[in-house]
Amino acid sequence: MKRALLTGGNGFVASHLARALLERGDAVTVLELAPRPRSGLTLQGIRDEVELVEADLRDAERVGATVTANEFDVVFHLGAQTLVGPAMADPITTFETNVRGTWTLLEACREADVPAVVVASSDKAYGPSDRLPYREDMQLRPASPYEASKAAADVIALSYFPAYGVPVGVTRFANIYGGGDANFSRLIPETIAALLDGRRPQIRSDGSPERDFLYVDDAVAAYFAVEQAVGAGGPGAGEAFNAGGEQPHSVAEVLGTIAEVSGSGLEPEYLGIGNPAGEIDRQYVDSTKLRELTGWVPAVGLRDGLIRTLEWYRGHPQLRPG
Ligand SMILES: NC(=O)c1ccc[n+]([C@@H]2O[C@H](COP(=O)([O-])OP(=O)(O)OC[C@H]3O[C@@H](n4cnc5c(N)ncnc54)[C@H](O)[C@@H]3O)[C@@H](O)[C@H]2O)c1
Repeated sequence: MKRALLTGGNGFVASHLARALLERGDAVTVLELAPRPRSGLTLQGIRDEVELVEADLRDAERVGATVTANEFDVVFHLGAQTLVGPAMADPITTFETNVRGTWTLLEACREADVPAVVVASSDKAYGPSDRLPYREDMQLRPASPYEASKAAADVIALSYFPAYGVPVGVTRFANIYGGGDANFSRLIPETIAALLDGRRPQIRSDGSPERDFLYVDDAVAAYFAVEQAVGAGGPGAGEAFNAGGEQPHSVAEVLGTIAEVSGSGLEPEYLGIGNPAGEIDRQYVDSTKLRELTGWVPAVGLRDGLIRTLEWYRGHPQLRPG
């Protein structure tokens, strides 16, 4: 049986990953802040199947003690302050959580000789660029606090392989969506919640920005692929990997599809001109590196993924705000 440590396990993506780790037979330890209502582990029905360590990633002593007290086979680091707006309003807390929190964990992994470490960066770490699609060899040019925090964590994590031999792989995944995302400032959960509550979704742009969307099951599979590539002397150590849906979609296309499959008859309302300030206008990633090294491919197309996501929120009215 493998032992896995997962940070931020009550979050959207990590709670799906926790469930998948349990399904493959791992013993799972989750390092998280104090639980909130609507926590991911509870939504996934696995709260009692994982060992929960209540700790702040910035607490070097607690994090170090957790990692060294267990012989983890793999560490997945997803815990972070993940929202762009709060990062803009309060950059220091975001830097503390996302950058200090990452080096704190990496130091613990170095000390404990963890054989595989996967650190969540983001496609946002690249910052805005006219070169599309984004590839891993592009320079990171963050232009906002959230982007900078992910870019800083990303390069620090990658340095631990050449400097200390810690086998770290970094994930630069696109916008992940699916059931269980309680961050209702994000486009897809907010749109679905509005439609299910009988409101017209209000969008801060004119619908023209293009994004890359990755269904959460495909993101989990990509995490496993990076883990495989990184561990046991694999070629993924010290490398960053994109993963996305292989095709960009405009915000208007996504909203139109959700509105259509919801059968609500409500039309989205576009409030902005172009792209909201501080957000990247067009972004999609090239996943060739991960695909060629591991065979990973996304299996769920946008329409199918949106139908599944809508059904999930329909079946979990307690998660919706308001
Ligand atoms: N959701 C996406 O579209 C997306 C895309 C690319 C990358 N990512 C990255 O993937 C990871 C997971 O994203 P998500 O959308 O599931 O985020 P989320 O906000 O749902 O979950 C983050 C979790 O981290 C925990 N956390 C925050 N501060 C902490 C601290 N100081 N100590 C311990 N835990 C702390 C939170 O309690 C939360 O449960 C993040 O690192 C994010 O940057 C997400």
